[in-house]
Amino acid sequence: MSKRGNWNSRIGFILAASGSAVGLGNIWRFPYTAGKNGGAAFLLIYLAAILVIALPVLLAEAALGRATGRNPVGAFKAIAPRGLWKGVGYLGVATGFMILSYYAVIAGWTLGYFVKAVRGEFSRLAAAGTDAATASRQAFESFGASPWLQISLLVVFLGLTVFVVSRGVSGGIERWSKLLMPMLLGLLFLLMIRSLTLDGAARGLEFYLKPDFSAIRPSVIIAAMGQAFFSLSLGMGTMITYGSYVEKGENLPASAGWIAFCDTLIAVMAGFIIFPAVFSQGMNPAEGPGLVFNILPVIFAKIPLGQLFGALFFLLLAIAALTSTISVLEVPVAYFIDERSWPRRKAAWIVGGICLVMGVPAALSQGSVGFLSELPLVKMDFLSLWDLIWGNLSLSIGALFIALFVGWVWKSGNALLEITRGSERFRLAFFWVIAIRYVAPALILVILLSKIL
Ligand code: TRP
Repeated sequence: MSKRGNWNSRIGFILAASGSAVGLGNIWRFPYTAGKNGGAAFLLIYLAAILVIALPVLLAEAALGRATGRNPVGAFKAIAPRGLWKGVGYLGVATGFMILSYYAVIAGWTLGYFVKAVRGEFSRLAAAGTDAATASRQAFESFGASPWLQISLLVVFLGLTVFVVSRGVSGGIERWSKLLMPMLLGLLFLLMIRSLTLDGAARGLEFYLKPDFSAIRPSVIIAAMGQAFFSLSLGMGTMITYGSYVEKGENLPASAGWIAFCDTLIAVMAGFIIFPAVFSQGMNPAEGPGLVFNILPVIFAKIPLGQLFGALFFLLLAIAALTSTISVLEVPVAYFIDERSWPRRKAAWIVGGICLVMGVPAALSQGSVGFLSELPLVKMDFLSLWDLIWGNLSLSIGALFIALFVGWVWKSGNALLEITRGSERFRLAFFWVIAIRYVAPALILVILLSKIL
Protein backbone atom coordinates (compact mmCIF):
# COMPACT_ATOMS: atom_id res chain seq x y z
CA MET A 1 0.00 0.00 0.00
CA SER A 2 2.86 2.38 0.68
CA LYS A 3 3.63 2.16 -3.03
CA ARG A 4 0.32 3.87 -3.75
CA GLY A 5 1.15 6.67 -1.33
CA ASN A 6 -0.47 7.64 1.93
CA TRP A 7 -1.51 10.90 3.49
CA ASN A 8 1.46 12.54 5.17
CA SER A 9 0.03 13.71 8.43
CA ARG A 10 -2.37 12.26 10.94
CA ILE A 11 -5.09 14.62 9.89
CA GLY A 12 -4.22 14.25 6.22
CA PHE A 13 -7.42 12.40 5.51
CA ILE A 14 -9.63 14.98 7.23
CA LEU A 15 -7.90 17.73 5.31
CA ALA A 16 -8.01 16.05 1.94
CA ALA A 17 -11.53 14.68 2.34
CA SER A 18 -12.83 18.05 3.52
CA GLY A 19 -11.06 19.59 0.56
CA SER A 20 -12.98 17.17 -1.64
CA ALA A 21 -16.28 17.79 0.09
CA VAL A 22 -16.09 21.57 0.31
CA GLY A 23 -16.38 23.08 -3.11
CA LEU A 24 -18.85 24.39 -5.62
CA GLY A 25 -21.36 21.96 -4.18
CA ASN A 26 -21.58 24.11 -1.07
CA ILE A 27 -21.35 27.58 -2.50
CA TRP A 28 -22.85 27.25 -5.97
CA ARG A 29 -25.03 24.12 -6.03
CA PHE A 30 -26.54 24.20 -2.54
CA PRO A 31 -27.99 27.74 -2.72
CA TYR A 32 -29.41 27.43 -6.20
CA THR A 33 -30.90 24.00 -5.51
CA ALA A 34 -32.40 25.21 -2.24
CA GLY A 35 -33.73 28.26 -4.07
CA LYS A 36 -35.43 26.11 -6.69
CA ASN A 37 -36.90 23.73 -4.12
CA GLY A 38 -38.66 25.96 -1.66
CA GLY A 39 -35.86 27.20 0.62
CA ALA A 40 -36.45 26.26 4.25
CA ALA A 41 -38.28 23.00 3.54
CA PHE A 42 -35.35 21.92 1.40
CA LEU A 43 -32.85 22.91 4.08
CA LEU A 44 -34.64 20.78 6.65
CA ILE A 45 -34.72 17.67 4.48
CA TYR A 46 -31.13 18.26 3.43
CA LEU A 47 -29.93 18.32 7.04
CA ALA A 48 -31.91 15.18 7.84
CA ALA A 49 -30.46 13.42 4.78
CA ILE A 50 -26.92 14.32 5.87
CA LEU A 51 -27.44 12.87 9.32
CA VAL A 52 -29.44 9.72 8.59
CA ILE A 53 -28.23 8.71 5.14
CA ALA A 54 -25.06 10.48 4.03
CA LEU A 55 -22.99 10.30 7.21
CA PRO A 56 -23.38 6.49 7.55
CA VAL A 57 -22.49 6.08 3.87
CA LEU A 58 -19.43 8.29 4.32
CA LEU A 59 -18.18 6.04 7.09
CA ALA A 60 -18.93 2.95 4.99
CA GLU A 61 -16.96 4.29 2.02
CA ALA A 62 -13.96 5.29 4.11
CA ALA A 63 -13.88 1.92 5.88
CA LEU A 64 -14.20 0.01 2.62
CA GLY A 65 -11.35 2.01 1.14
CA ARG A 66 -9.05 1.63 4.11
CA ALA A 67 -9.74 -2.10 4.50
CA THR A 68 -9.02 -2.89 0.84
CA GLY A 69 -6.51 -0.17 0.04
CA ARG A 70 -7.93 0.05 -3.46
CA ASN A 71 -9.82 2.15 -5.97
CA PRO A 72 -13.61 1.55 -6.07
CA VAL A 73 -13.49 -1.23 -8.67
CA GLY A 74 -10.64 -2.95 -6.86
CA ALA A 75 -12.35 -2.54 -3.50
CA PHE A 76 -15.50 -4.34 -4.66
CA LYS A 77 -13.40 -7.02 -6.39
CA ALA A 78 -11.31 -7.59 -3.27
CA ILE A 79 -14.37 -8.46 -1.22
CA ALA A 80 -16.64 -10.02 -3.86
CA PRO A 81 -14.38 -11.27 -6.67
CA ARG A 82 -17.23 -12.88 -8.58
CA GLY A 83 -20.58 -11.46 -9.46
CA LEU A 84 -21.86 -8.07 -10.43
CA TRP A 85 -20.83 -6.00 -7.42
CA LYS A 86 -17.74 -4.62 -9.09
CA GLY A 87 -20.20 -3.01 -11.50
CA VAL A 88 -20.89 -0.48 -8.73
CA GLY A 89 -17.20 0.42 -8.88
CA TYR A 90 -17.38 0.81 -12.66
CA LEU A 91 -20.45 3.01 -12.31
CA GLY A 92 -18.44 5.14 -9.91
CA VAL A 93 -15.53 5.47 -12.32
CA ALA A 94 -17.90 6.42 -15.14
CA THR A 95 -19.71 8.91 -12.93
CA GLY A 96 -16.35 10.47 -12.11
CA PHE A 97 -15.75 11.20 -15.80
CA MET A 98 -19.20 12.69 -16.22
CA ILE A 99 -19.21 14.85 -13.09
CA LEU A 100 -15.75 16.20 -13.80
CA SER A 101 -16.76 17.14 -17.34
CA TYR A 102 -19.40 19.65 -16.24
CA TYR A 103 -18.11 20.53 -12.76
CA ALA A 104 -14.97 21.89 -14.40
CA VAL A 105 -17.14 24.24 -16.47
CA ILE A 106 -18.56 25.87 -13.34
CA ALA A 107 -15.10 25.83 -11.80
CA GLY A 108 -13.96 27.74 -14.88
CA TRP A 109 -16.55 30.40 -14.05
CA THR A 110 -14.81 31.01 -10.74
CA LEU A 111 -11.61 31.80 -12.64
CA GLY A 112 -13.51 34.06 -15.00
CA TYR A 113 -15.10 35.87 -12.08
CA PHE A 114 -11.75 36.19 -10.35
CA VAL A 115 -10.51 38.09 -13.39
CA LYS A 116 -13.67 40.21 -13.50
CA ALA A 117 -13.18 41.10 -9.83
CA VAL A 118 -9.54 42.04 -10.35
CA ARG A 119 -10.52 44.29 -13.24
CA GLY A 120 -12.97 46.14 -11.01
CA GLU A 121 -16.05 45.11 -12.96
CA PHE A 122 -18.09 44.63 -9.80
CA SER A 123 -17.62 48.18 -8.58
CA ARG A 124 -19.00 49.40 -11.88
CA LEU A 125 -22.25 47.62 -11.00
CA ALA A 126 -22.62 49.96 -8.07
CA ALA A 127 -22.50 52.88 -10.49
CA ALA A 128 -25.47 51.32 -12.25
CA GLY A 129 -27.39 52.29 -9.11
CA THR A 130 -30.57 50.53 -8.11
CA ASP A 131 -30.28 48.27 -11.10
CA ALA A 132 -27.06 46.61 -10.02
CA ALA A 133 -28.84 43.26 -9.96
CA THR A 134 -30.00 43.57 -13.56
CA ALA A 135 -26.59 44.74 -14.69
CA SER A 136 -25.00 41.77 -12.95
CA ARG A 137 -27.41 39.33 -14.56
CA GLN A 138 -26.73 40.75 -18.00
CA ALA A 139 -23.01 40.49 -17.42
CA PHE A 140 -23.41 36.83 -16.47
CA GLU A 141 -25.54 36.13 -19.52
CA SER A 142 -23.01 37.50 -21.93
CA PHE A 143 -20.24 35.67 -20.04
CA GLY A 144 -22.12 32.37 -20.40
CA ALA A 145 -22.83 32.99 -24.06
CA SER A 146 -19.18 33.46 -25.06
CA PRO A 147 -18.23 30.06 -26.50
CA TRP A 148 -14.46 30.55 -26.69
CA LEU A 149 -14.23 32.07 -23.26
CA GLN A 150 -16.21 29.19 -21.76
CA ILE A 151 -14.07 26.58 -23.47
CA SER A 152 -10.82 28.32 -22.58
CA LEU A 153 -11.78 28.47 -18.92
CA LEU A 154 -12.68 24.78 -19.01
CA VAL A 155 -9.30 23.95 -20.56
CA VAL A 156 -7.42 25.98 -17.95
CA PHE A 157 -9.28 24.46 -15.04
CA LEU A 158 -8.99 20.88 -16.25
CA GLY A 159 -5.32 21.50 -16.97
CA LEU A 160 -4.73 22.62 -13.39
CA THR A 161 -6.57 19.56 -12.07
CA VAL A 162 -4.61 17.15 -14.24
CA PHE A 163 -1.36 18.83 -13.30
CA VAL A 164 -1.94 18.33 -9.57
CA VAL A 165 -3.27 14.77 -9.88
CA SER A 166 -0.42 13.70 -12.14
CA ARG A 167 2.00 14.55 -9.33
CA GLY A 168 0.36 12.20 -6.85
CA VAL A 169 -1.84 12.20 -3.81
CA SER A 170 0.37 13.16 -0.94
CA GLY A 171 2.48 15.67 -2.81
CA GLY A 172 -0.37 17.34 -4.62
CA ILE A 173 -3.69 17.02 -2.94
CA GLU A 174 -3.03 17.38 0.73
CA ARG A 175 -0.99 20.55 0.70
CA TRP A 176 -3.75 22.63 -0.88
CA SER A 177 -6.31 21.86 1.77
CA LYS A 178 -4.39 23.19 4.74
CA LEU A 179 -4.47 26.93 4.43
CA LEU A 180 -7.60 27.29 2.46
CA MET A 181 -10.44 26.29 4.72
CA PRO A 182 -9.90 28.86 7.49
CA MET A 183 -9.43 31.64 4.95
CA LEU A 184 -12.56 30.72 3.05
CA LEU A 185 -14.49 30.48 6.29
CA GLY A 186 -13.35 33.94 7.36
CA LEU A 187 -14.36 35.50 4.08
CA LEU A 188 -17.73 33.77 4.09
CA PHE A 189 -18.32 35.17 7.54
CA LEU A 190 -17.65 38.67 6.32
CA LEU A 191 -19.99 38.28 3.38
CA MET A 192 -22.66 36.86 5.63
CA ILE A 193 -22.60 39.94 7.81
CA ARG A 194 -22.87 42.24 4.83
CA SER A 195 -25.71 40.28 3.31
CA LEU A 196 -27.67 40.05 6.55
CA THR A 197 -27.50 43.81 7.01
CA LEU A 198 -28.85 44.68 3.56
CA ASP A 199 -32.28 46.32 3.34
CA GLY A 200 -34.94 43.66 2.98
CA ALA A 201 -32.67 40.84 4.15
CA ALA A 202 -35.40 39.60 6.50
CA ARG A 203 -37.52 38.25 3.67
CA GLY A 204 -34.58 36.14 2.54
CA LEU A 205 -34.19 34.78 6.04
CA GLU A 206 -37.84 33.89 6.12
CA PHE A 207 -37.52 32.03 2.83
CA TYR A 208 -34.46 30.16 4.11
CA LEU A 209 -35.62 29.37 7.65
CA LYS A 210 -39.41 29.25 7.75
CA PRO A 211 -40.48 26.01 6.11
CA ASP A 212 -43.52 25.86 3.89
CA PHE A 213 -44.35 22.19 4.24
CA SER A 214 -46.77 22.26 1.34
CA ALA A 215 -43.72 22.84 -0.87
CA ILE A 216 -42.39 19.35 -0.15
CA ARG A 217 -42.82 17.13 -3.18
CA PRO A 218 -40.92 13.96 -4.16
CA SER A 219 -38.71 16.02 -6.45
CA VAL A 220 -37.71 18.22 -3.50
CA ILE A 221 -36.74 15.19 -1.42
CA ILE A 222 -34.77 13.68 -4.30
CA ALA A 223 -32.97 16.98 -4.80
CA ALA A 224 -32.12 17.26 -1.10
CA MET A 225 -30.82 13.71 -0.85
CA GLY A 226 -28.81 14.08 -4.06
CA GLN A 227 -27.35 17.32 -2.73
CA ALA A 228 -26.29 15.55 0.48
CA PHE A 229 -24.39 12.92 -1.53
CA PHE A 230 -22.94 15.46 -3.94
CA SER A 231 -21.77 17.80 -1.24
CA LEU A 232 -20.06 15.05 0.76
CA SER A 233 -18.52 13.53 -2.41
CA LEU A 234 -20.39 10.25 -1.90
CA GLY A 235 -21.86 7.62 -4.15
CA MET A 236 -19.09 7.21 -6.70
CA GLY A 237 -16.19 6.02 -4.62
CA THR A 238 -14.29 9.24 -3.96
CA MET A 239 -14.28 8.48 -0.26
CA ILE A 240 -13.37 4.84 -0.97
CA THR A 241 -10.37 6.09 -2.90
CA TYR A 242 -9.38 8.68 -0.30
CA GLY A 243 -10.01 6.13 2.46
CA SER A 244 -7.52 3.83 0.76
CA TYR A 245 -4.76 6.31 1.55
CA VAL A 246 -5.59 6.43 5.28
CA GLU A 247 -3.37 4.98 7.96
CA LYS A 248 -4.82 2.21 10.10
CA GLY A 249 -4.44 4.20 13.30
CA GLU A 250 -6.67 7.04 12.26
CA ASN A 251 -10.08 7.50 13.87
CA LEU A 252 -12.55 7.11 11.01
CA PRO A 253 -15.80 8.00 12.83
CA ALA A 254 -14.29 11.19 14.21
CA SER A 255 -12.91 12.09 10.79
CA ALA A 256 -16.26 11.46 9.13
CA GLY A 257 -17.99 13.61 11.73
CA TRP A 258 -15.59 16.51 11.19
CA ILE A 259 -15.85 16.33 7.44
CA ALA A 260 -19.64 16.36 7.51
CA PHE A 261 -19.65 19.19 10.05
CA CYS A 262 -17.32 21.48 8.07
CA ASP A 263 -19.08 20.74 4.82
CA THR A 264 -22.55 21.41 6.20
CA LEU A 265 -21.44 24.54 8.02
CA ILE A 266 -20.09 26.06 4.82
CA ALA A 267 -23.20 25.20 2.80
CA VAL A 268 -25.52 26.63 5.45
CA MET A 269 -23.41 29.81 5.60
CA ALA A 270 -23.62 30.14 1.84
CA GLY A 271 -27.39 30.14 2.19
CA PHE A 272 -27.16 32.94 4.75
CA ILE A 273 -25.18 34.94 2.22
CA ILE A 274 -27.19 34.28 -0.91
CA PHE A 275 -30.85 34.46 0.17
CA PRO A 276 -30.89 37.74 2.11
CA ALA A 277 -29.07 39.36 -0.81
CA VAL A 278 -31.30 37.76 -3.44
CA PHE A 279 -34.46 39.02 -1.75
CA SER A 280 -33.05 42.41 -0.95
CA GLN A 281 -32.24 42.89 -4.64
CA GLY A 282 -35.60 41.61 -5.84
CA MET A 283 -34.08 38.63 -7.62
CA ASN A 284 -35.74 35.27 -8.09
CA PRO A 285 -34.29 32.54 -5.80
CA ALA A 286 -35.42 29.86 -8.26
CA GLU A 287 -33.55 31.20 -11.27
CA GLY A 288 -31.14 28.26 -11.50
CA PRO A 289 -27.40 27.61 -11.93
CA GLY A 290 -26.53 31.27 -12.49
CA LEU A 291 -27.98 32.40 -9.14
CA VAL A 292 -24.79 32.70 -7.13
CA PHE A 293 -22.80 34.27 -9.95
CA ASN A 294 -25.52 36.85 -10.41
CA ILE A 295 -25.84 37.91 -6.81
CA LEU A 296 -22.30 37.79 -5.41
CA PRO A 297 -20.96 40.64 -7.57
CA VAL A 298 -23.81 42.79 -6.30
CA ILE A 299 -22.75 42.12 -2.71
CA PHE A 300 -19.14 42.93 -3.52
CA ALA A 301 -20.27 46.14 -5.14
CA LYS A 302 -21.75 47.09 -1.78
CA ILE A 303 -18.85 46.46 0.57
CA PRO A 304 -15.77 48.57 1.19
CA LEU A 305 -12.74 47.15 -0.61
CA GLY A 306 -15.18 45.04 -2.65
CA GLN A 307 -12.69 44.71 -5.48
CA LEU A 308 -10.09 43.17 -3.18
CA PHE A 309 -12.52 40.94 -1.32
CA GLY A 310 -14.22 39.90 -4.53
CA ALA A 311 -10.94 38.85 -6.08
CA LEU A 312 -9.88 37.02 -2.95
CA PHE A 313 -13.21 35.25 -2.68
CA PHE A 314 -13.27 33.94 -6.24
CA LEU A 315 -9.66 32.88 -5.94
CA LEU A 316 -10.44 30.90 -2.78
CA LEU A 317 -13.53 29.45 -4.42
CA ALA A 318 -11.44 28.37 -7.40
CA ILE A 319 -9.00 26.63 -5.07
CA ALA A 320 -11.86 24.99 -3.16
CA ALA A 321 -13.21 23.78 -6.51
CA LEU A 322 -9.75 22.53 -7.43
CA THR A 323 -9.44 20.37 -4.32
CA SER A 324 -12.81 18.91 -5.33
CA THR A 325 -12.05 18.30 -9.02
CA ILE A 326 -8.80 16.68 -7.94
CA SER A 327 -10.79 14.17 -5.88
CA VAL A 328 -13.17 13.43 -8.73
CA LEU A 329 -10.31 12.86 -11.19
CA GLU A 330 -8.49 10.73 -8.64
CA VAL A 331 -11.20 8.02 -8.87
CA PRO A 332 -10.74 7.04 -12.53
CA VAL A 333 -7.00 7.68 -12.25
CA ALA A 334 -6.65 5.32 -9.26
CA TYR A 335 -8.64 2.75 -11.23
CA PHE A 336 -6.28 2.90 -14.22
CA ILE A 337 -3.22 2.79 -11.96
CA ASP A 338 -4.38 -0.14 -9.80
CA GLU A 339 -6.31 -2.24 -12.28
CA ARG A 340 -4.62 -1.44 -15.59
CA SER A 341 -1.12 -0.69 -14.30
CA TRP A 342 -0.96 2.63 -16.12
CA PRO A 343 1.60 5.15 -14.89
CA ARG A 344 -0.10 7.93 -12.88
CA ARG A 345 0.88 10.65 -15.31
CA LYS A 346 -0.54 8.86 -18.32
CA ALA A 347 -3.79 8.08 -16.49
CA ALA A 348 -4.24 11.69 -15.39
CA TRP A 349 -3.66 13.21 -18.83
CA ILE A 350 -5.80 10.70 -20.73
CA VAL A 351 -8.75 10.90 -18.35
CA GLY A 352 -8.46 14.68 -18.28
CA GLY A 353 -8.41 14.80 -22.08
CA ILE A 354 -11.57 12.72 -22.34
CA CYS A 355 -13.29 14.92 -19.76
CA LEU A 356 -12.36 17.96 -21.79
CA VAL A 357 -14.08 16.60 -24.88
CA MET A 358 -17.12 15.59 -22.86
CA GLY A 359 -17.23 18.96 -21.12
CA VAL A 360 -17.61 20.94 -24.36
CA PRO A 361 -21.41 20.54 -24.65
CA ALA A 362 -21.80 21.68 -21.03
CA ALA A 363 -19.55 24.67 -21.67
CA LEU A 364 -21.67 25.65 -24.68
CA SER A 365 -25.01 25.15 -22.92
CA GLN A 366 -25.18 28.52 -21.19
CA GLY A 367 -26.34 30.51 -24.17
CA SER A 368 -23.60 29.83 -26.72
CA VAL A 369 -25.55 27.15 -28.60
CA GLY A 370 -29.33 27.49 -28.56
CA PHE A 371 -30.08 23.79 -28.82
CA LEU A 372 -27.85 22.89 -25.86
CA SER A 373 -29.14 25.79 -23.80
CA GLU A 374 -32.76 24.62 -24.00
CA LEU A 375 -32.88 20.93 -24.85
CA PRO A 376 -36.13 19.73 -26.37
CA LEU A 377 -38.33 17.41 -24.26
CA VAL A 378 -36.52 17.96 -20.96
CA LYS A 379 -36.67 21.75 -21.32
CA MET A 380 -33.41 22.40 -19.54
CA ASP A 381 -29.87 23.19 -20.52
CA PHE A 382 -27.33 20.42 -21.04
CA LEU A 383 -25.35 21.26 -17.92
CA SER A 384 -28.42 21.07 -15.68
CA LEU A 385 -29.46 17.79 -17.28
CA TRP A 386 -26.01 16.29 -16.70
CA ASP A 387 -26.04 17.53 -13.14
CA LEU A 388 -29.42 15.88 -12.60
CA ILE A 389 -28.42 12.54 -14.13
CA TRP A 390 -24.87 12.22 -12.80
CA GLY A 391 -24.71 14.61 -9.88
CA ASN A 392 -27.97 13.43 -8.40
CA LEU A 393 -29.44 10.15 -9.67
CA SER A 394 -26.24 8.26 -10.37
CA LEU A 395 -24.77 9.22 -6.98
CA SER A 396 -27.97 8.14 -5.21
CA ILE A 397 -27.95 4.79 -6.98
CA GLY A 398 -24.26 4.37 -6.22
CA ALA A 399 -24.82 5.17 -2.55
CA LEU A 400 -27.69 2.69 -2.41
CA PHE A 401 -25.48 -0.12 -3.66
CA ILE A 402 -22.54 0.89 -1.49
CA ALA A 403 -24.78 0.75 1.61
CA LEU A 404 -26.19 -2.64 0.59
CA PHE A 405 -22.74 -3.97 -0.20
CA VAL A 406 -21.13 -2.87 3.05
CA GLY A 407 -24.13 -3.85 5.19
CA TRP A 408 -24.92 -7.23 3.65
CA VAL A 409 -22.10 -8.53 1.44
CA TRP A 410 -18.97 -7.35 3.22
CA LYS A 411 -21.20 -7.44 6.32
CA SER A 412 -21.51 -4.69 8.87
CA GLY A 413 -19.61 -6.78 11.47
CA ASN A 414 -16.50 -6.88 9.27
CA ALA A 415 -16.88 -3.21 8.46
CA LEU A 416 -17.06 -2.44 12.18
CA LEU A 417 -13.79 -4.28 12.77
CA GLU A 418 -12.19 -1.89 10.31
CA ILE A 419 -13.96 1.16 11.68
CA THR A 420 -12.93 0.47 15.26
CA ARG A 421 -9.23 0.27 14.46
CA GLY A 422 -8.11 3.60 15.77
CA SER A 423 -11.48 4.18 17.39
CA GLU A 424 -12.01 1.47 19.97
CA ARG A 425 -14.84 3.28 21.69
CA PHE A 426 -17.13 3.96 18.76
CA ARG A 427 -20.33 4.46 20.71
CA LEU A 428 -22.63 4.82 17.77
CA ALA A 429 -21.76 1.41 16.31
CA PHE A 430 -25.25 0.08 16.85
CA PHE A 431 -26.89 3.03 15.13
CA TRP A 432 -24.44 2.86 12.27
CA VAL A 433 -25.26 -0.79 11.63
CA ILE A 434 -28.99 -0.09 11.62
CA ALA A 435 -28.46 2.89 9.34
CA ILE A 436 -26.24 1.16 6.80
CA ARG A 437 -28.22 -2.10 6.63
CA TYR A 438 -31.78 -0.85 6.81
CA VAL A 439 -32.45 2.85 7.08
CA ALA A 440 -30.18 4.25 4.38
CA PRO A 441 -30.95 1.66 1.66
CA ALA A 442 -34.69 1.70 2.36
CA LEU A 443 -34.91 5.50 2.33
CA ILE A 444 -32.81 5.89 -0.81
CA LEU A 445 -34.91 3.31 -2.61
CA VAL A 446 -38.24 4.78 -1.54
CA ILE A 447 -37.13 8.29 -2.39
CA LEU A 448 -35.90 7.29 -5.84
CA LEU A 449 -39.06 5.30 -6.54
CA SER A 450 -41.36 8.04 -5.25
CA LYS A 451 -40.62 10.06 -8.35
CA ILE A 452 -41.44 7.23 -10.72
CA LEU A 453 -44.55 5.93 -8.97
N1 TRP B 1 -18.31 17.51 -3.00
C1 TRP B 1 -17.74 18.42 -3.94
C2 TRP B 1 -18.44 19.76 -3.83
O1 TRP B 1 -19.30 19.92 -3.03
C3 TRP B 1 -17.78 17.90 -5.35
C4 TRP B 1 -17.26 16.52 -5.44
C5 TRP B 1 -16.00 16.12 -5.25
C6 TRP B 1 -18.02 15.38 -5.70
N2 TRP B 1 -15.91 14.76 -5.38
C7 TRP B 1 -17.14 14.28 -5.65
C8 TRP B 1 -19.34 15.19 -5.95
C9 TRP B 1 -17.61 13.00 -5.82
C10 TRP B 1 -19.80 13.91 -6.14
C11 TRP B 1 -18.95 12.82 -6.06
O2 TRP B 1 -18.15 20.66 -4.55
